[in-house]
Amino acid sequence: MTVRVATIDDAHRVAEVAAATFPLACPPGTRPEDIDRFISNVLSAKHFEGYIADASRTVLIDETPDADVVGYAMLVSGTPADPAVRAALSHTPTMEISKLYVTPTAHGSGSAARMMTFSVSHARESGCAAAWLGVNQQNVRAQKFYAKHGFEIVGTKIFVVGDQTHDDYVMQVQL
Ligand SMILES: CC(C)(COP(=O)(O)OP(=O)(O)OC[C@H]1O[C@@H](n2cnc3c(N)ncnc32)[C@H](O)[C@@H]1OP(=O)(O)O)[C@@H](O)C(=O)NCCC(=O)NCCS
Repeated sequence: MTVRVATIDDAHRVAEVAAATFPLACPPGTRPEDIDRFISNVLSAKHFEGYIADASRTVLIDETPDADVVGYAMLVSGTPADPAVRAALSHTPTMEISKLYVTPTAHGSGSAARMMTFSVSHARESGCAAAWLGVNQQNVRAQKFYAKHGFEIVGTKIFVVGDQTHDDYVMQVQL
């Protein structure tokens, strides 16, 4: 398995993994129609083509030697737009780990850890003093994973999925 920066040719495969794994991060009770709207408004192949081409974003994939994508992450540099996030963070410049998703068969396999290690190195090499992320308050597995990598809860924010709002924690690690 290898982590690398995605290219435009990867957009379709990343979008497939994104659509399959996004529901895993949603709390119980999230309406399927809200999940579907989020996937078509944010996670389509066209959107990933845009993310991959965007100089302020870095899309990572973890793939097998047969080029099966088992996980992906997206890093976003710059000052966060959400005032709640800006108020919570204590270190700048910072980088958001905007997405980090692994297919269920690869949970606990080291795939997520590989992408986290790559993400943190990338943020450090870009001159960031910290990295941050949002995680649903009910997503205990992800919170535990981030805590293992040094992230601490520093605040809360709202995350919109279709017509619903979800409660997230803001987590930060100093680099
Ligand atoms: C979040 C994610 C990337 C973490 O990767 P992972 O390979 O599962 O992480 P790890 O197994 O290394 O760590 C998870 C920890 O939570 C523990 N855990 C597993 N299920 C749990 C649960 N239901 N409740 C609490 N802890 C749980 C694991 O035992 C492990 O802790 P340990 O190392 O002390 O044993 C992965 O689970 C994933 O892709 N989930 C679905 C998408 C998602 O939620 N993405 C994050 C969006 S913010």
